[in-house]
Amino acid sequence: MEQSTLTSNPQIVTDFLPLNGTDHIEFYVGNAKQSAYYYQSAWGYELVAYAGLETGIKDRASYVLQQGKIRLVLTTSFDPESDISQHVRKHGDGVKVLALWVDDATKSYEETIKRGAKSVIAPTRMQDEHGEVVISAIQTYGETIHKFVERKNYTGAFLPGFAPKKSNVPVKPIGLKYVDHCVGNVELGQMNEWVKFYEQVMGFQLLITFDDKDISTEYSALMSKVVSNGNGFVKFPINEPAEGKKKSQIEEYIDFYKGAGVQHIAIATDNIIETVTELRARGVEFLYVPETYYEDVLDRVGHIDEDFEALKKLNILIDRDEEGYLLQLFTKPVEDRPTVFYEIIQRHGARSFGKGNFKALFEAIEREQELRGTL
Ligand code: FE2
Repeated sequence: MEQSTLTSNPQIVTDFLPLNGTDHIEFYVGNAKQSAYYYQSAWGYELVAYAGLETGIKDRASYVLQQGKIRLVLTTSFDPESDISQHVRKHGDGVKVLALWVDDATKSYEETIKRGAKSVIAPTRMQDEHGEVVISAIQTYGETIHKFVERKNYTGAFLPGFAPKKSNVPVKPIGLKYVDHCVGNVELGQMNEWVKFYEQVMGFQLLITFDDKDISTEYSALMSKVVSNGNGFVKFPINEPAEGKKKSQIEEYIDFYKGAGVQHIAIATDNIIETVTELRARGVEFLYVPETYYEDVLDRVGHIDEDFEALKKLNILIDRDEEGYLLQLFTKPVEDRPTVFYEIIQRHGARSFGKGNFKALFEAIEREQELRGTL
């Protein structure tokens, strides 16, 4: 079992890409109006802004949803030939943009481009009566991009071109606080390339390495490395499939997503029992872990503050590292293709990713793959 930690890179003196956190996550979807309804009614996000025909945008519609510090943007195109429609045709509903909140989108662009990033959007100034925003973007794995969003001189609802809009369905927030991490799945042999990209081009540091001995079951395996930016606000685990007796869940994702892309978004809560109780009541489906998981979990993790019976009833997983413990749970994919899903996580000091749960978790995914005939 190999786990290595790198804490310093002597070549990095100052952070050339300071990040304030995740600005927003944009999905390209087939029907943004209906997706927005799902995120409002099931997940308790508030609609805060909208762009579309009614706001003078002729070729697409976007809904901006917010809960805590999390901002989701759901975008649909009206033009079958557009990049958005091509993206949906190829990948199904999926994450196009992992947008990062910066103080200087021009410098963020220049610093990453000079280190080898591929340009997607050169720095662009956008203005309206609420001020100005500067946006730039670079390519990451698959067709996913990182946008840099500089909004320090802006007071509008989201971005110029968007009008404020309120939910017209009842919305009850469920305690979602912020994006804890966003995981990418890449093709076999590509993990180290993308780790190198985050290190060299974006100044991230390698936080943790999981090899196939850490993450394997009887049937399938994967490898994972976690990179983090300087202040630790942005963490991107990168997975690649590994050899196993049967098909890796990462390979299944890549088969259905038709390439590399965002696998899951982990969202932090301060009360996972309440959050998951609400999500289950609203029909969100989670992976199932058998009762046997709970027989010896307390021997492994020791004392936890929460009501153990409640955790067990909700099928919430528990893990501990040197710094504390964490509670986590994973949804089933939230679209028909077995691609993007969510993790709900509550941290009590632990800064790791639930390694002690990997086996139970991957066996749960394999049971789902078996049902789909894709194992
Ligand atoms: Fe995760």
